[in-house]
Amino acid sequence: MQNPHNIVVLISGRGSNLEAMHRACVAQRWPARIAAVISNRADAGGLDYARAHGIDTAVLDHRVAPSREAYDAELAARIDAWQPRAVVLAGFMRVLSAGFVHHFDGRLINVHPSLLPAFPGLGTHRRALDAGVKWHGATVHLVTAELDQGPIVAQAIVPVHDDDSEERLAARVLEQEHVVYPAAVRALVEDRLRVDGLRVRVLPESLR
Ligand code: GAR
Repeated sequence: MQNPHNIVVLISGRGSNLEAMHRACVAQRWPARIAAVISNRADAGGLDYARAHGIDTAVLDHRVAPSREAYDAELAARIDAWQPRAVVLAGFMRVLSAGFVHHFDGRLINVHPSLLPAFPGLGTHRRALDAGVKWHGATVHLVTAELDQGPIVAQAIVPVHDDDSEERLAARVLEQEHVVYPAAVRALVEDRLRVDGLRVRVLPESLR
């Protein structure tokens, strides 16, 4: 059972992607709403935004779980209470077990701060600078059991400037995340993604 109107967002930190998505969702009148925000950290800034906007919140602290699998099972049960059409990872800084990923197959989506398949994992902006790439960016992808390797839904690119710092580059990428991620999640909840292996076709709104 799925409730096509529900989106659940998972966060660990400041929640700027959550905020961008919520704003787009309301302004563009998506056929779905952010029903709940769940964080593994009680001090995640995004929780304040959610509470201030009447979105249900929950904190599930990973440090008290006996194992990754136990944590993920509890997390999946919490999410299932909403039967969401989309489970949105927005800076949720946890590696998810294969069982969790399979449970939400086709509904689990992530934004990653690099042009995948370049720079999976952590420290992407530093690594991009160190590698001397001229273009960097963000990738929205469906989540599979292999870390940062799922089918790519959308990407946004930004130039790398000669005098860039990690912070400036990160800010430039984040600005693009806020554009490309809401658009991709909207396409998911509007059933406009067609997945063929690693290739994803995003149908325009009119062809839904
Ligand atoms: C974003 O830059 C997102 O791409 C990154 O965490 C940040 C969260 O910011 N995600 C990952 O690195 C996942 N591997 P936010 O809390 O302001 O949305």
